[in-house]
Amino acid sequence: MAASFTSRCAMLALLALFLSGADGQLSPTFYASTCPNLATIVRSAMNTAVANERRMGASLLRLHFHDCFVEGCDGSVLLDNVPATPTTPAFFGEKNAFGNINSVRGFEVIDTIKSNVEQACPGVVSCADILTLAARDGTVLLGGPTWEVNLGRRDSMTASMDLANRDLPPPFANLVNPDGSGLIARFANKGLNATMMTVLSGAHSIGFAQCKNYRDRLYNEPNIDFQFAQQLQANCPATGPAGDTFLAPFDVQTANAFDNKYYDNLVSRRGLIHSDQVLYSPGGTLASVVNQYRSNNALFLSDFVVAMKKMGDLSPTAGSASQIRTNCRFVNP
Ligand code: HEM
Ligand SMILES: *[C@@H]1O[C@H](CO)[C@@H](O)[C@H](O)[C@H]1NC(C)=O
Repeated sequence: MAASFTSRCAMLALLALFLSGADGQLSPTFYASTCPNLATIVRSAMNTAVANERRMGASLLRLHFHDCFVEGCDGSVLLDNVPATPTTPAFFGEKNAFGNINSVRGFEVIDTIKSNVEQACPGVVSCADILTLAARDGTVLLGGPTWEVNLGRRDSMTASMDLANRDLPPPFANLVNPDGSGLIARFANKGLNATMMTVLSGAHSIGFAQCKNYRDRLYNEPNIDFQFAQQLQANCPATGPAGDTFLAPFDVQTANAFDNKYYDNLVSRRGLIHSDQVLYSPGGTLASVVNQYRSNNALFLSDFVVAMKKMGDLSPTAGSASQIRTNCRFVNP
């Protein structure tokens, strides 16, 4: 009796170890017993953040995308750069990559949520999971759809600027680039096909971009509405650095509302950055997909949810070192 009880305990312990491992299955109930109020804690901090600044909902959605596209959703984008010391070299992580530097934001909001979560349930919830929940809540608070978030991610112990530069799509990318760096290829590398890329780009229904990321389009691209370009040129002069950081909303119709007007803008040649407008030209590869979402908001929202869940399930290479960080900016000492 005693022996079989002991061996059953050992088996349960092994099972628990297996389930909590870095490669464990994600599930919506992962923290049901270890941090039952997690979703409420995240939502409440997100309510405050978005009430202070509506754009923050968009910023956290983007931060999650940038986390997931580089080595899976593992909180790697949250790791700070570390300056050199007399004995150790400087460390440049993903924050230093082209798509992130002076651009991604929302780190302070993640810090606040993390410290609230640590108070309620110390040492159990990953930064990657917090960011995933915050991205969902940001979307919802700006009028977007909701979805059930899978949980159980673990935090990376490294962040690579080079991998981020390789994997994050740049605003000037075409659908297909001869060297394989086009938008379709970059999403395909992450297991997301061109339809899913088109629906995920609908995230540009909210948030803002800086002039340096849409300047070329205003002055050099034919596929742009004349008035739209003219209005933006007023604050985004042809040559930088003047105006470089001037912000324009991605969605000229409903800047802070998550809806399918983004696709309507594309059809009227009012996409803000190059990678938006390449999704639509008359007869283009993805024109029918754009038209479909443009005419059916419910379809856009439900396909967006499917794609967000798929993106949120991107995981790091099996067996890579992981932990639950105490401070999202640093690997645990
Ligand atoms: C298709 C390839 C994509 C490219 C080339 C791209 C590029 C960009 C650029 C250049 C900005 C403006 C950054 C700045 O000026 O500082 C931006 C903002 C944004 N992106 Fe994307 N993006 C892409 C896909 C996505 C996806 C898949 C999502 C989320 C699912 C997303 C969500 C956002 C959001 C919400 C913002 C606004 C952030 C804010 O206002 O703080 N983007 N993106
Ligand atoms: C893209 O992927 C989704 C989900 O896996 C699938 O439903 C859809 O049929 C695919 N579309 C194309 C054009 O391959």
